[in-house]
Amino acid sequence: MNDGDGTLAAQDRGRQFGPLGTALVIIPTYNEAENIKSIVGRVREAVPDAHVLVADDNSPDGTGKLADELAAQDDHVQVLHRKGKEGLGAAYLAGFRWGLEHGYGVLIEMDADGSHQPEELPRLLTALKGADLVLGSRWVPGGRVVNWPKSREFISRGGSLYSRLALDLPLRDITGGYRAFRRETLEGLGLDDVASQGYCFQVDLARRAVKAGYHVVEVPITFVERELGDSKMSRDILVEALWRVTTWGARERAGKLLNRGKQPAPKGRRP
Ligand code: GDD
Ligand code: MN
Repeated sequence: MNDGDGTLAAQDRGRQFGPLGTALVIIPTYNEAENIKSIVGRVREAVPDAHVLVADDNSPDGTGKLADELAAQDDHVQVLHRKGKEGLGAAYLAGFRWGLEHGYGVLIEMDADGSHQPEELPRLLTALKGADLVLGSRWVPGGRVVNWPKSREFISRGGSLYSRLALDLPLRDITGGYRAFRRETLEGLGLDDVASQGYCFQVDLARRAVKAGYHVVEVPITFVERELGDSKMSRDILVEALWRVTTWGARERAGKLLNRGKQPAPKGRRP
């Protein structure tokens, strides 16, 4: 784990990481008809060995059908059709399950709207050679956002800061959605009991990875606000994030108080 000042925590020094297997880029979509062709094409060009899985929630604008057309022309592209809009978290859980079942070694999260630039993916994958999980980060030196209104930047920075303090996480961008997981990391996070539906799914996974002792590295990215289509961010998504993060934080603090005086459990990677 990165302990905040760029040095590695003691248990990570000298850790050996296995080779990376084939990567699957999971792209959740809800009404991204204007973006799907471009993003899939960019991924295929930037990382030709990687496969793509579009996880579509039966978008009324026909994104799923467009994705099927791309898949018909390219054996590296697959589509997971889901019955309706169930949130980003549920779409990723289904995508991860599919990817793990199909034997992929690396599972990547990427938005469909171009905010996460596929051209930066090779840098994330290079970092994953020495990590269990790589977070594309807007809020570390070198990271930035382009064309985001100040109000949106305030919410995002605030969300990361609140999560960092409430959950005691040594990370800067905790809500971001451009990530690369080794399959073993996902297998160790206990995905079966993840209930987060909206964007707090990202906080949930980051928190689980740190608590399980995985080596989490943040790599700076340039997040470019979408030019086409609309954000799915809503008041409900914000409210869910706020109450879940607050509840996790309170539970953790209560747990620490109850355990005061007892020997701390040794930190380390799960077997
Ligand atoms: N399948 C599915 N189902 N996909 C969804 C759903 C859903 O219910 N809701 C959103 N998505 C997809 C969008 O189609 C897009 O590809 C991606 O998830 C991100 O959604 P946006 O609506 O573009 O998110 P944003 O730009 O407002 O939010 C960004 O910042 C958040 C906070 O930092 C993203 O990077 C999020 O991942 C991030 O949590
Ligand atoms: Mn977006």
